[in-house]
Amino acid sequence: MNTQTVLEVRNLHTHFFLRRGIVKAVDGVSFTLARGEVLGLVGESGCGKSVTALSIMRLLPRGGARTIQGQIWLDGTDILTHTPRQMRDVRGRKISMALQDPQTSLNPVFTIGAQLREALMRRLRAAQAAITQAAIAALRAVDIAAPEQRMGQYPHQMSGGMKQRVVGAIAISGHPDVLIADEPTTALDVTIQLQYLKLLKRLQQDTNMAILFITHDFGVVARMCDRVAVMYAGRIVECGKVTDVFAHPSHPYTKALIASVTKLKGSSGRLPTIEGQPPSLMDIPIGCRFAPRCPHAEQRCRDIYPPSFPINDTHTADCWQLAPS
Ligand SMILES: Nc1ncnc2c1ncn2[C@@H]1O[C@H](COP(=O)(O)OP(=O)(O)O)[C@@H](O)[C@H]1O
Ligand SMILES: [Mg+2]
Repeated sequence: MNTQTVLEVRNLHTHFFLRRGIVKAVDGVSFTLARGEVLGLVGESGCGKSVTALSIMRLLPRGGARTIQGQIWLDGTDILTHTPRQMRDVRGRKISMALQDPQTSLNPVFTIGAQLREALMRRLRAAQAAITQAAIAALRAVDIAAPEQRMGQYPHQMSGGMKQRVVGAIAISGHPDVLIADEPTTALDVTIQLQYLKLLKRLQQDTNMAILFITHDFGVVARMCDRVAVMYAGRIVECGKVTDVFAHPSHPYTKALIASVTKLKGSSGRLPTIEGQPPSLMDIPIGCRFAPRCPHAEQRCRDIYPPSFPINDTHTADCWQLAPS
């Protein structure tokens, strides 16, 4: 990995071993993230984005989830080899995650101050007064007015947008090199969403942290990200600079996703859709996973998973149409 790379995920496989079968939620995911870079991970609901994030954090849900293969290089160490204790040391300080739903990531029975102080205590190991000051500074950093008063409030006394900012404050309080933001704005209305995205962008630029930004919304990718990885049925099918991917989407799935965003901005007013359903992750096709929905599918698409073909030195897509003839 080069010196600029802060996180490199190689051939990651995380499966759910259930009584009714094996769900291959993440099935061969690879990507790199450079210092100070924002990489979007985009794809329809259920394609494995959150399981990828939880695998990296080593916080998989109980009940059969296991990372069975792959490497996760963070600052030069494969954290898949870390003990739980080493992992606790890494979380929050080197890599941190802001969860999809602030309702579930804040505890309703503790004050905001108590929750921030607890997070900071694990990360700073400083004296009580210094921790309180750091907590207040963390709230101020996410534009929360009168942070001293807010410290004594409970989550239910705050708006959705403010709770989301508190979750953000907790996630970045240990100054991580990498922040994973999993659909951080899905629960918010549009104006508050925009405010939060702007805030996140500003924090990212001020601190030079790298962000893995997970979303199902290509519009948000265009606003936030430098590069984008498009995920479909447990695999990344296209990856490149946002400007390149928007200008020359090369996988038929990416084309369909981008077309659906453009359509939404038009006047039809209909929700974007792509014909057909993603495959069951318990029964993944042996060839290209998108073939059953793809207007260009040929026999080889159904028979063999395509390699990653380069479109330029930073842009690749897994599609047989790109094979040199
Ligand atoms: N707790 C769980 N138990 C069993 N299967 C799960 C669980 N969580 C997720 N999955 C499976 O993993 C797939 C990917 O889920 P997820 O990563 O949450 O998708 P998303 O891209 O929407 O974040 C889902 O389609 C589902 O089949
Ligand atoms: Mg998710």
